[in-house]
Order: sequence, then structure tokens, then C-alpha cells
Amino acid sequence: MKLIIDTDPGIDDAMAIAYAVAAPEIDLIGLTTVFGNTHVHQSSRNARFLLNKLGLDIPVAEGAAYPLGSDTHAPSEHVHGPEGFGDLTEILEIGSNHDLPAAEFLVEMARIHKGELVVCAVGPLTNIANAMRLDPEFTGNLGQLVIMGGAVFCSGNITEHAEANIYHDALAADEVFSAPPDTVLVGLDVTLKTLYETADFEDLARRSPDMGAFLRDISRFYLNFYREVGGLEGCGLHDSTAVIACSHGSMFNMVETGLRVETEGDRLGATQPDPARSVVRVCRNVDGAGVVRLFTERVASLP
Ligand code: RIB
Ligand code: CA
Repeated sequence: MKLIIDTDPGIDDAMAIAYAVAAPEIDLIGLTTVFGNTHVHQSSRNARFLLNKLGLDIPVAEGAAYPLGSDTHAPSEHVHGPEGFGDLTEILEIGSNHDLPAAEFLVEMARIHKGELVVCAVGPLTNIANAMRLDPEFTGNLGQLVIMGGAVFCSGNITEHAEANIYHDALAADEVFSAPPDTVLVGLDVTLKTLYETADFEDLARRSPDMGAFLRDISRFYLNFYREVGGLEGCGLHDSTAVIACSHGSMFNMVETGLRVETEGDRLGATQPDPARSVVRVCRNVDGAGVVRLFTERVASLP
């Protein structure tokens, strides 16, 4: 499966990128970056740093620095750390971004790999909305869009109503859901059932002394946030769960519904069913232990 991950690395994004590189059925052909956990330049730097560490030379196309119609964004430093990788503050600038901006890269790749390309969006949906605006054929060219985002049947994580990726660009999300490609939504409804605990990270670091140990080290900050703020002994494998849904849909129970997103007021970013809109498949339940096992088995195979 040809995959592009649209990402704001970000600690759980880093885990998802490592998983995608380790997964034998995934041909990761590029990353597109977006603001969110970090500033977009940090997202791009972190993406290139990770790919170098993983030994994969593929394009990183930089995307939106701000939400649609805005020129500001406050990164989630309290969750992912000042540079996006927890306590790690010295992150080398390795290589350079692809010549095309993210939206043009996505449009071009969907055209070249018509019907085959899967895009897994694990940050705000600004690049996806921009690609849809740029090329009316993008939606038809795309094989599938898998989104880490939303909280349809459960509470949010950035407010009680909204999940962070949707909240950070509610306008873009609502635009995507107004005319969606073949789409699967992997929201908090399932990603909070795939918690990764300290013991899981220690096991991973033992089995993968380079990449596994790196992911353990950058995740300490993230685990502390979940413990102190969420009262959870483990962090959500949010983005890895979405990447796993790209190839292992049978591990998920899905329901079909149209969706819309609140774009103002105190319910800003809320994802709610809308029968008037084209359906997307919303993950309602998951074999959480199976996802955690699959993630560990694959990433543990890395050096
Ligand atoms: O709500 C979780 C999502 O927000 C994940 O993609 C995480 O990386 C952050 O971007
Ligand atoms: Ca993310």
C-alpha cells in the first residue's frame, strides 16, 4: 500500500512514522507536514530527522503554518515539549524540504498513483482541505483518506467537546467532511483504547536499542502529561492506531455516518453525525490489545 502521512511530529506522530517504516505491507512514499503539536518548520525538521534515523530517503513536503483563515497558532508544547520531541531540545536540521508545498505534493501523488494512494492525516486537516481546494479531482484520485481525529461518541481531549486535530482547524475539518473521499475516521473513540504504558516502552527499548530507545526517551514527557493531566498510566497510540487502520481495518468496528464540525462557539471542533452529508466510516471500537501488540512487534523489529 502506497502511503503518505500528513503529520505534526510530535511524539505519537514519531511512533506512527516508525511503525509505517517497519510495516511490511506499507510503502511510505512521503511525509507532508503541518502545524499542530509544533510550528510547521519544527514539524518538517522533526520529520526529516526521524526519516534519517530510520534510514529512509523520501520527500518531506512542508504544508500549512496556520489554520484556514488564520495567521496564528499556539503549539501544544505542554504535551509534546518545546521542540516536539519531549525533553529532547537539540534536533539536527537534516536535509531539506521537497520543492512542492504539501497540498501540491498531495495532489501530484494522488494523480500519479490514481486510486492507489492512501493518505493518513494525523494532524490538523489544513493540508487536506487545501489539496481539495487546489484540485477538484484530488478526492476522486485518492484511494483512501484515514484521519486520526475527532471524538464522535466520547468526550474530547482539548475541550470536553473536541479532539485536538479537529479543534486546531475546525474549518478545514468541516470542509473535508462536506465532500469527503473514501474516508475512515480514527478518533478518540478508539485511540484511548490503545494506551501504551511505561513497561511497553521499556520492552520496546530492550528489543530495539536504537529506535525503540529513542521513542521511549522522547515519550517520558508525554507519559507525564497523561499521568498528571489525564490521570492515565499510559499515552494514547493515537497516530499509530490510525496508520494501523490503513491496513488492518478488520481490527476495528466501524459505523457509517455523515459528519460535520462545529466551527464556532464553545463546541468549537465538535465532530457530530450529520445524515445530510456523505458518509464516512467512523471507528466505534477496536481490538486495543491487538493494536498495541502489532505496534510493538513491528517497531521492535527496527534496529
Ligand atoms: O488528539 C490527538 C492528536 O493530536 C494526535 O495526532 C497528536 O499527535 C496530536 O496531533
Ligand atoms: Ca499528530
